[in-house]
Amino acid sequence: MQDLGENLSRKGGHVFNAIGYELGKRDLARFRNLPPQDRFTAFDREWSLLPDVWPGNAVATRLFTSWLPYQEADNLAVVGCGAGVTAVMAALHGCSRVFALDVNPAAVETTRLNAIRHGVDGKVIALTSNLFSALDAIDVFDMIYWNSPFVEAPADHYYVSGIDYAAFDSCYAAHHGFFANAGRHLSGGGRIFHGFSETLGNPALLRELAAETGFRGSAYRREEFAVPTGPRDEPISVDYVLYEFHQAELGPGCHRTLIR
Ligand SMILES: C[S@@+](CC[C@H](N)C(=O)[O-])C[C@H]1O[C@@H](n2cnc3c(N)ncnc32)[C@H](O)[C@@H]1O
Repeated sequence: MQDLGENLSRKGGHVFNAIGYELGKRDLARFRNLPPQDRFTAFDREWSLLPDVWPGNAVATRLFTSWLPYQEADNLAVVGCGAGVTAVMAALHGCSRVFALDVNPAAVETTRLNAIRHGVDGKVIALTSNLFSALDAIDVFDMIYWNSPFVEAPADHYYVSGIDYAAFDSCYAAHHGFFANAGRHLSGGGRIFHGFSETLGNPALLRELAAETGFRGSAYRREEFAVPTGPRDEPISVDYVLYEFHQAELGPGCHRTLIR
């Protein structure tokens, strides 16, 4: 296995995951070269897929969707719903109201089509939303879930189209906004479940953002895979981890940064 340590570069004290960025770009390029696909299969069901939407049959989607404890949430917000697989599965597993939010309008439309296809359009409310921007203050949830674009991209990263937002987060600005605003949409005792990869993302920065906005978390479940990086390169071990975050009690002198 390749040693990941050598791929972490440090600029001005900030650790940037170069291999995560390279693999993210490779995955997106591979996706763009695929023939257009208008459906896919996941969880033994067929799903619709509009152009420029990340297909919901990815390994991470499958793992996180099968690990989430739906029975512990009546109300769920899925941030970054993509093709809608997790939102629809949550509704099929008993969540009575699921808000499905995505910054990519094509993802929101795909989620609507899939909610209708699987008979849960009365429970799944799909909205185009930059993080929580489309919600009202009264929209609070037992659980907020995001399978995030955990690859940190540099400040000058160019987003070609909507699907880039499924893979990359320039300077972790969206991750910052997520933690800064999630608290106001959580019910008392509500929890965040965050789908992430420590191998491909920036776990140190994630922990920092969560802590400075008043959240404490730990790994709820994790799995590792050997992933080929190229025809001649050794495979590397890539993890997918579902974190569970709670709002921590803030001590005197601490404050939460709120960003809209
Ligand atoms: C890794 S994909 C996950 C998609 C889907 N939930 C799944 O598991 O297949 C991340 C999703 O987050 C969405 N996203 C990225 N930034 C966002 C933002 N600021 N607000 C809302 N959604 C965002 C992307 O458009 C994408 O659909």
